[in-house]
Amino acid sequence: MAEKPVEELTEAEARAELARLAQAIAAANTAYHMLDAPEISDAEYDALKQRNTAVEARFPALKRADSPSDQVGAAVADGFGKIAHRVRMLSLENAFASEDVADFDDRVRKFLGHSGVLSYTAEPKIDGLSLSLRYESGVLIQAATRGDGEVGENVTENARTIADIPQRLTGAPEVLEVRGEVYMSHADFAALNARAVAAGDKTFANPRNAAAGSLRQLDAAITASRPLRFFAYSWGELSQPLANTQFEAIQRLKALGFQTNPLTVLCDGPETLLTHYRLIESQRATLGYDIDGVVYKVNDLALQARLGFRSSTPRWAIAHKFPAELAWTELLGIDIQVGRTGALSPVARLKPVTVGGVVVSNATLHNEDYIAGRDSRSQEIRGGKDIRVGDWVQVYRAGDVIPKVADVDLSRRKSDAQPYVFPILCPECGSEAHREEGDSVRRCTGGLICPAQAVERLKHFVSRSAFDIEGLGAKQVEMFFKDQTLPVKTPAEIFTLASRDSANPLQKLKNRDGFGEVSAAKLFAAIEARRTIPLDRLIFSLGIRHVGEVAAGLLARHYSTWEAFESAATEARPGNAAWAELTAIDGVGAVMAQSLVDAFANLGERAAIDALAGELNIQPVRARGPVESPVAGKTVVFTGTLEKMTRAEAKARAEALGAKVAGSVSAKTDLVIAGPGAGSKAKEAERLGVEIIDEDAWLRLIGG
Ligand code: IVH
Repeated sequence: MAEKPVEELTEAEARAELARLAQAIAAANTAYHMLDAPEISDAEYDALKQRNTAVEARFPALKRADSPSDQVGAAVADGFGKIAHRVRMLSLENAFASEDVADFDDRVRKFLGHSGVLSYTAEPKIDGLSLSLRYESGVLIQAATRGDGEVGENVTENARTIADIPQRLTGAPEVLEVRGEVYMSHADFAALNARAVAAGDKTFANPRNAAAGSLRQLDAAITASRPLRFFAYSWGELSQPLANTQFEAIQRLKALGFQTNPLTVLCDGPETLLTHYRLIESQRATLGYDIDGVVYKVNDLALQARLGFRSSTPRWAIAHKFPAELAWTELLGIDIQVGRTGALSPVARLKPVTVGGVVVSNATLHNEDYIAGRDSRSQEIRGGKDIRVGDWVQVYRAGDVIPKVADVDLSRRKSDAQPYVFPILCPECGSEAHREEGDSVRRCTGGLICPAQAVERLKHFVSRSAFDIEGLGAKQVEMFFKDQTLPVKTPAEIFTLASRDSANPLQKLKNRDGFGEVSAAKLFAAIEARRTIPLDRLIFSLGIRHVGEVAAGLLARHYSTWEAFESAATEARPGNAAWAELTAIDGVGAVMAQSLVDAFANLGERAAIDALAGELNIQPVRARGPVESPVAGKTVVFTGTLEKMTRAEAKARAEALGAKVAGSVSAKTDLVIAGPGAGSKAKEAERLGVEIIDEDAWLRLIGG
């Protein structure tokens, strides 16, 4: 059957098409990478990927969390086996001061008996985790973490999901181990944490932790959904040299298809190294990923070989580290910001200071306990020292973007400094700010009458996982919120913007600063396009505390229609039937239910919700419905080779029948389906007394 052109797809068709493509591409990846038995040609594979990209470009809002455009390959990992490195993975000696760099050059030249100027490469030291990739005959066969340098963890399936890592190489030595750093960009890290917050999950402290946590996932599908990157900078075992110099070897890796760092240069002698160090340091803040120094390596590989290694570091390289990103400055004031859910967050206003190349004038102070020198369990932090306006405070930038206040210098405290009194009224609207038992956060009780909450709610409403209206971001929301002629104070007013604009012949949006005929028309069209919205997105968009993206999905699938959801949220009260039904949803607890009920019972909120619903065409979400099958609710594990279908297909079918497919065998496993070549998993199942059946028995069991 001919495929419908992407331009002609309706939204519903596009959604189904993206699901189909994700499945087809995943199946092709498994066949190719895991089973070494490609089922479709490279051209067909490319066509699937291109179509997926085209559909996503037309319907960006429909892009799936497991979008194939964010990944290469995907599979269930086999647990982490151990891999002994054939060439040890070493670490680097550190240098901190310029003199250390001159000393390094002296030592190297002395060792070699070299009196002239030596050539070195200089490149950023990426703050991620190192990975060794083994290629044989140009095919990626193994990926291992550094581990203790001798033995690392087998993360092959996870590494296959990283787009920067080529699966095949042309023109490479028969055996080639490429080494480099897996990392996450600042933007991807921020987006990942934002998704985690929206889903009510734990966030990562910095991009390095996020990269490490993502690579070391037992389920490669999770790694695949994380935007990891890779820079190649070194190598292990080789059947043939890559080049005569370090610089050329890196260029060779680049030509083979690896990402290499564009700030890698050749330098003669320590002075030029220091010049490049300063250049890289000056660019540090704008690189978009974390680096923690500059690595210098002797360029001539014959000289590297002569220099050799100490116990755990090469003599031919050194890492010139950046100074710690810490600074002391004066705390000029403490402002309170009010967030979407009314949380009062204290922000330190600082005398501007440079921290790690970035000028910092604001930093978070977390909450009132943190200022007082306590943690959430009333235990002392900072030795119990509180923070006062006028104090000298230590500011630091960890890997993440928001600077923090770490410490306070009591010896410089002025004698008249007063302890900070945390407000008990909302500074934005004057409502009482209440702190619930066990909550470290004080919250404004003003709801939508609080302008700060209202504007933050609007920002949430238009955010990516919510209405995601093109051309209407946080900045525009702030502008419309304050606007005199065309104000937007509630979500419903977004959908009356166009009609209000056309009803006002005098001050048209198209004549405003920042808008023209085209951009105004585009904005109205983008808003119109979102008037039809699936129920789950709408529920998430309401920005109700404790109701994140996952919860919104659960609620939408349970109630299916807006009418059913709305009447449940209106009627439910602890003890009645509607409450019992609501809290019986797997994943919905009493706290979330209460928060939902409170929102619908609040007059102001309710009016805003009703007005919004009146503007929209809300698409029902189909319930997944309980699956009736002999394997529903069971946890199954596939191991060994399947002969009747691909792993991906077997997994999809099992899941469609309500089973959970796990990657490893544990006490929770109900059934193991073992094909030829099954190894450790089958043994583990035997040990645990888990039932093991073959593929035919499985097919009989599921009736197919
Ligand atoms: S070279 C034999 N180059 O830093 C030397 N390492 O502190 C091999 N690293 O384990 C390493 N960026 O994880 C090298 N441009 C770079 C690097 C780099 C980051 C990491 C690597 C290594 C650690 C040593």
